[in-house]
Amino acid sequence: MRIIRAKDYKDMSRKAANIISAQVLIKPDCVLGLATGSTPIGAYQQLIEWYQKGDLDFSEVTTVNLDEYKGLPRDNEQSYYYFMHENLFRHVNIDLNRTYLPDGMEPDSEKACGDYNRIIAQVGGIDLQLLGLGHNGHIGFNEPGPSFETETHCVDLTAQTIEANKRFFDSIDEVPKQAYTMGIKTIMQAKKVLLVVSGKDKAEAVKNSFFGPVTPQVQASILQLHSDVTVVADEDALSLV
Ligand code: GLP
Repeated sequence: MRIIRAKDYKDMSRKAANIISAQVLIKPDCVLGLATGSTPIGAYQQLIEWYQKGDLDFSEVTTVNLDEYKGLPRDNEQSYYYFMHENLFRHVNIDLNRTYLPDGMEPDSEKACGDYNRIIAQVGGIDLQLLGLGHNGHIGFNEPGPSFETETHCVDLTAQTIEANKRFFDSIDEVPKQAYTMGIKTIMQAKKVLLVVSGKDKAEAVKNSFFGPVTPQVQASILQLHSDVTVVADEDALSLV
């Protein structure tokens, strides 16, 4: 595991965008695993800027997102579908037919998850998986638990995650209680993993995930066993290690 120390959020975003753009340049028809949350937004902005300057071409790229809230329609501003369109897809020349997220409006969890597993298999696996980090060490929406879930599954969000995400909603009651998320095996099968993390409030999660034991109670800790992981963290996020 490589840990790259960034000065601040902006520096973290540029460094992460550099790694993503290198992937797209080296393999124009690559499969990018993408993430939502506030942390990757700066990296997406940097990629858009480079695209606008003519330095990046997304026309052959395929994307599979980590997760989606269950029950939020695509046009809900808090859905991850909406997020991806607003923060990346509509600004670059990506073919929308090659961008995938779990179908949050499919009420049958087994069908939603089975369909998504098939999509990930069909696109041939993930070349580079981008990840953020939850306060409790979750990746995607893989919450702390007794075991590592393998493939796409439906999760009950923890009280802590609901609390952390309520800032995006009008009230806590509107935060979905469930989500569909890619599983840990799928994430671990990505050829490369890039995790971005910023801020003092994530310092504990960084310490527990990358400097503690590998345990499903801290799902990101499994990344210690992946052979090609890069963590780009700012000084605040590294302040406890
Ligand atoms: C959500 C997402 C995660 C993300 C996490 C942290 O729970 N499902 O993929 O990493 O939030 O978000 P933020 O970057 O806003 O702190």
